[in-house]
Amino acid sequence: FLPKKKKQKDSLINLKIQKENPKVVNEIDIEDLNSANVCYCRCWRSKTFPVCDKSHLKHNELTGDNVGPLILKKKIL
Ligand code: FES
Repeated sequence: FLPKKKKQKDSLINLKIQKENPKVVNEIDIEDLNSANVCYCRCWRSKTFPVCDKSHLKHNELTGDNVGPLILKKKIL
């Protein structure tokens, strides 16, 4: 007998991105980065996910959270 799996809807991180998929995975080929800095969303609130659109600012203000993007920097030689 296995205990019933607990539902933790109040702790969901992803509220609406690709909910039809069992797992959201994004793959970025580092060779395709064509600008010096690219910011990727880690708050799951961006309307341009996986790219940050600064929605984390509103999320942090509303919740007291402190999340921010992953910034990839490319050295221009
Ligand atoms: Fe999600 Fe910026 S919008 S980290």
